[in-house]
Amino acid sequence: MVPTATPLPSAHRKGLGATVRRDAWWLYPTVVGTILLSFVVYSTWAGFQAGFHWVNGTGYLSPFYSPEIYGTGPHALIPGIPSWWPVGVMAFSSAFLILAVPAGFRLTCYYYRKAYYRSIWQDPVACAVGEPRASYWGENRLPLILWNAHRYMLYLALIIGFILLYDGIHAFFFPVNADGSQFLWTNAAGTAISGDLYKQEAANVVAGTPAGWSFGIGLGTLILIINPLLIMGYTLGCHSLRHLVGGGCDRYRTPVQKARHGVWRFVTKLNDHHEFWAMASLFWVGLSDVYVRGLAHGWWTETYLLNPFK
Ligand code: FES
Repeated sequence: MVPTATPLPSAHRKGLGATVRRDAWWLYPTVVGTILLSFVVYSTWAGFQAGFHWVNGTGYLSPFYSPEIYGTGPHALIPGIPSWWPVGVMAFSSAFLILAVPAGFRLTCYYYRKAYYRSIWQDPVACAVGEPRASYWGENRLPLILWNAHRYMLYLALIIGFILLYDGIHAFFFPVNADGSQFLWTNAAGTAISGDLYKQEAANVVAGTPAGWSFGIGLGTLILIINPLLIMGYTLGCHSLRHLVGGGCDRYRTPVQKARHGVWRFVTKLNDHHEFWAMASLFWVGLSDVYVRGLAHGWWTETYLLNPFK
């Protein structure tokens, strides 16, 4: 007698969230969705602050505002507020000139696509769990076809990564007066920048130049140097970069090909843990802004591991 197989229940029933899975499949989309939405809300709020993004008496600059193309603080490439900026419409914030790059880079990243397709769009929410639609749209039409621009966002993100590395190194140096005491920037009226004078308004453009820069290490220094290391770990592990350095080459014989192979192996190592780098760098860049903002507001004071001042 031939045994008859009992059909297993379908694991994928129709309807959002329908499933026969008994494990905590909802945990990943819930946790990741909460983290991503929290970051979007916080970074948008921070961008609209238009101030409190640098710390007087230090070399600290929030990564959300770097490079500061226009601004009232000492890090601004072009001091002041440009006449074309719609001050009447929205507060001047140079952050929005910069945030588009990391936002676009992360939005089109292969890892983040998986993360927010599952956790925010819920499509697909998890393996063998019902989806909101039965058909597959793919990324072959607008707007998702634009996600193919990821490789171009990579080029811009690499530039930002090196700028943040410069900021991290700059955070080891503190402005001093001729006698080695801490130098504090003032506005044109001679009032030290603190409190509301951190806001990017015409009257708050900094004046004065430090006599020199002294080496030191504060808690902010450590936070701001770890930030670009995590961001570079994320950026250099990009799938597009992996293809860029190792693609289109099926043999490694010449010195140039061998060098490419070495770079490809390095990128591949980072790529193996792309999710870790993506989430760690996201958390840390937010932490960096919170820490700088807290110092500027006076919510807490700096702790020096190596005091740069006399
Ligand atoms: Fe994630 Fe390029 S795939 S940064």
